[in-house]
Amino acid sequence: MEGDLVPLNLERVSGILPLGGTILGTSRTNPFKEPDGAERILRNIGALGIDAVVAIGGEDTLGVALRLYDEHGVKVVGIPKTIDNDLSGTDYTFGFDTAVHVATEAIDRLHTTAESHNRVMVVEVMGRHAGWIAVMAGLAGGADAILIPEYPLTVEDICDLVQKRAARGKRFSIIVVSEGANLIWRSGVEQTVTQSAETDDFGHIRLGGVGSVLAKEIERITGYETRVTILGHVQRGGTPTARDRVLATRFGIKGAEMVQNGQWGMMAALRGDAVEAIPLAEAVKEYKLVPRGLYELARTFFG
Ligand code: F6P
Repeated sequence: MEGDLVPLNLERVSGILPLGGTILGTSRTNPFKEPDGAERILRNIGALGIDAVVAIGGEDTLGVALRLYDEHGVKVVGIPKTIDNDLSGTDYTFGFDTAVHVATEAIDRLHTTAESHNRVMVVEVMGRHAGWIAVMAGLAGGADAILIPEYPLTVEDICDLVQKRAARGKRFSIIVVSEGANLIWRSGVEQTVTQSAETDDFGHIRLGGVGSVLAKEIERITGYETRVTILGHVQRGGTPTARDRVLATRFGIKGAEMVQNGQWGMMAALRGDAVEAIPLAEAVKEYKLVPRGLYELARTFFG
């Protein structure tokens, strides 16, 4: 929108492979929220001689890219990047594996205090609409209960699991919760915990804090000492895993090929072990949620 360019020559991109984040900078700006947002983009594309836009991001970024293509004929290709892994049409998005790795390591470290102090440890991870990080890190870290937006458990169900473990002599538990999960009580009361009522340009509320409310409730109902750790942006930073670096590299190469082939309005996607071009419309039409089978598998180990 601002025509603020950084030429990505060899010097500029040399050495970025092991870095997290983005050398370009990012924001939650929605050009379609600005009165002349799309027009400014079109003007800049023309004035700066931009042949194609390679949009790298999640549902918001790629949703904007799709509208620029559909409504304004901008030559776009998409690359799926979000730690949430909730884009349809691709098995994985890059960033996700690193977030799962960080969350798993945190759970492993929290096990130490949980076990030595006989405490219930609640770990809140990111995941706005889908519980991918919670399920994968919970499975990898041996969580005793996992609460995600897709498959609600009541607060009392979680307390029952904690008590079931205590009856088996396990006086500690690890509970993983997605920031986007609602709290539900058997009485039917439901609560969405947010940090602020403000919404961003895409209408998203700022999540965070569900773990704290859950921890207080577990302590109130069971009487067991309960602590919470909110991982927050720790999950989004630092050194990417080898798997994420390889996936991002493969997606990057595919994106360049797609530009060469003129495959506009398409996104690079991982299907099995193949990187393919799929319509952007398919990727953003609905969230890719955790399949019931995977959640049930994790559930086998609850309590
Ligand atoms: O959309 C990716 C994500 O990491 C979500 O999991 C999380 O809710 C959100 O971004 C946090 O956004 P921000 O950094 O703008 O607070």
